[in-house]
Amino acid sequence: MKKAQNPPCKTVWFCRADRISVTSKPRKKCIYISIYFSIMDITIRQELPKDIEAIVRITFAAFEGKPYADGTEPLIIERLRKAEALSLSLVAELDKKLVGHVAFSVVTIDGKNKNWYGLGPVSVLPELQKQGIGTKLIKQGLSLIRDKGAKGCVLEGSPIYYQRFGFKTYPALFYEGAPAPEYFMALPFYVDIPQGKVQFHKAFYADI
Ligand SMILES: CC(C)(COP(=O)(O)OP(=O)(O)OC[C@H]1O[C@@H](n2cnc3c(N)ncnc32)[C@H](O)[C@@H]1OP(=O)(O)O)[C@@H](O)C(=O)NCCC(=O)NCCS
Repeated sequence: MKKAQNPPCKTVWFCRADRISVTSKPRKKCIYISIYFSIMDITIRQELPKDIEAIVRITFAAFEGKPYADGTEPLIIERLRKAEALSLSLVAELDKKLVGHVAFSVVTIDGKNKNWYGLGPVSVLPELQKQGIGTKLIKQGLSLIRDKGAKGCVLEGSPIYYQRFGFKTYPALFYEGAPAPEYFMALPFYVDIPQGKVQFHKAFYADI
């Protein structure tokens, strides 16, 4: 039997859901194939009516016990949906099971709708956090609202986490409810950055 002369294909496993690629490059006389793929086959898609219960469960589990959470996060999503103000609601699915969720809704700036959106709440099941699912949800959400004509996006959250998506503070665009100015950040999609007081939908503050 003829002896194999080519090196075996090398398979590299990544546990980050956002790194999925297949590359192929010729090396000497053989084809050397590197396959980079995720252990987790995560699908991001719009919410469906059947997902509502799971979204509540995921949001509750993700925020439970967090010092910055007050337990109303699942309720906020419910109220936004009821008020038809849930502009975009994406779920992350793994093996037909929902494991993450992100909500986007319109915000006002000095009382006016300027096509800016608020990101959040965003949640990933605790046991699956830090594996890129949140990043996938957020990147896809930002891309979809941009396609819908959004001018930018704001949020209240950890600067350490959200800076990686390009969010930063703009002192002239502010939110009075932020615990400190650095916790309120914006990501403009165009060079024009509005100034003024940002207000999230009233679903964030009270029952409607
Ligand atoms: C925030 C959250 C959605 C991120 O999703 P995720 O899938 O865990 O995040 P990713 O895997 O995409 O990113 C992981 C990175 O985010 C960091 N990170 C996650 N949550 C963070 C937080 N609250 N503050 C700072 N950094 C955070 C991790 O340390 C990790 O950093 P690294 O890439 O340098 O190792 C998820 O951790 C979660 O559900 N947290 C509880 C609910 C919550 O706090 N929601 C956001 C409120 S603003």
